[in-house]
This record gives sequence, structure tokens and C-alpha cells, in this order.
Amino acid sequence: MAEQLPTPAYLYNEHARNVAPDDYWGQVKRTVNGKPVGQDQIDMIVAAMLTALDLAGDDELLDLCCGNGALTTYFFQRCRGGLGVDYSGFLIEVARRNFVRGAHEQYVMADAVRFVGEAADTARFTKALCYGAFQYLGQGEALLRDLRMRFPNVARFAIGNLPDRALAERFFVNAMPEPAVLARADTPLGIWRTREEFAAMAARAGWSATFQMMPAAFYASHYRYDAILSRA
Ligand SMILES: C[S@@+](CC[C@H](N)C(=O)[O-])C[C@H]1O[C@@H](n2cnc3c(N)ncnc32)[C@H](O)[C@@H]1O
Repeated sequence: MAEQLPTPAYLYNEHARNVAPDDYWGQVKRTVNGKPVGQDQIDMIVAAMLTALDLAGDDELLDLCCGNGALTTYFFQRCRGGLGVDYSGFLIEVARRNFVRGAHEQYVMADAVRFVGEAADTARFTKALCYGAFQYLGQGEALLRDLRMRFPNVARFAIGNLPDRALAERFFVNAMPEPAVLARADTPLGIWRTREEFAAMAARAGWSATFQMMPAAFYASHYRYDAILSRA
């Protein structure tokens, strides 16, 4: 019989289960040298994504691959609320237990690509976010296409913390992996793309892309970028 490999969702569940219940950043692997990042780093992420989304009080946000909601909650507080989607049932339970402030803030366990391809009631969302996760989606382009076609009122999609293929040497200082490995979604850092590659993929899906870099004090600023998509 063929060996059953653990699913990626199972791996996220198991990791989070083995981290302290209140170590929200550790649960989503937002760590440096094994330690959760500081509040200054979170503040920089929140500021960058608020700018990228141009988030306003009357926006309704779809947060794809939202993890445990520890980041999502900063954005829900700045708009009408919305929906967080993640395929880790454990992290969704953490979000529901700790970060829901009312019926306007919801979290659902689902594969992000499937959700975007199949969800009903899509017209209510005006902005979408995917932070620290798009590079793990093997079907990222399909998600972009379905979000463009099926979510008619999403004016902006902010995709944060993408590893830059053009800057990979800054991260892999000792040994560069093979190009084929850098193109795989199921690796610890996911798919590395140049900004040009990302813009071309977004264009094929009907989005026009701009890019921003984090301040130099951000722990991953030397090899990552954020993409801001608007309807082409
Ligand atoms: C590094 S964490 C980031 C979580 C959150 N966005 C944040 O920045 O705090 C990556 C998340 O992506 C989720 N994820 C990865 N692939 C997914 C998929 N296909 N569908 C839904 N969630 C996914 C994982 O479960 C995990 O919670």
C-alpha cells in the first residue's frame, strides 16, 4: 500500500498544537531564531498592509490564509469586519476563541483556493488580503483568476511577505537551492518569484500589480516584497 504523507494542513495543525496557547506568532511561525517577533515588527506589517489595502471604515475584508486571526484582528478593527479563511482547523479555532469581537468578524476552515473558486455571497467583500502565505499555494494563479471573476467588488488584493527570486542569494548565503526547489510551493519558504514574474501572473488573471518593500528595520525586508493588486 502507498504510504500516506501528512497533508500540509495537518502539519500546520501539529506545529501550532505544540506551541504555547498564547504564543500567537509562534503558532504561525512568525519567529526569528525560534523566538516570536516583537510588537515593533507586527506594527510594521499592519502599517504596510493598511497602506496596501487602502483600508477604510466601510470596507469588508476577506483574509485568505488568515492563520489564527492574530494579524487579521488588526484589520477587522479598521473596517466593517469580514471573513478569515484558513485550512488549519486548529488555527481557526484559536481565532474563534480569542479574536472574534462580534458577528461581523467570522473565521472559516477551508482551503483558500477552493473557497475562492466556490464561495457564495462574494459581492460583500471590497478588499482582500493574503499575508505570508500566497507562496505556499500551488494553485495561486487560479486563486487570482477566481478572485478577479467571482468577487466583483474586491478593488484591491494585498499579498504580503513574498520571497523575491531576484534576492534569494541574500537569504541562502551558504548554498543556493536548485531553481526547481525555489519554484516549489511545498517547501519551508514556498515559491520564490521575481516581481516581474509576479506581475505577469497577476496580469494573466486580470490584475495590475504594484510593489512595496518593508522598512529596513523589518526582519525580512532584505529578501521579501509585498504585491498590491488592483483590477486591470
Ligand atoms: C505563515 S502562516 C500566516 C498566517 C497569517 N496570514 C499571518 O500572517 O499571521 C501561513 C498560513 O497559511 C495557511 N495556508 C497555507 N496553505 C493554505 C491553503 N491552501 N488554504 C488555506 N490556508 C492555507 C496555513 O494554515 C497558515 O495558517
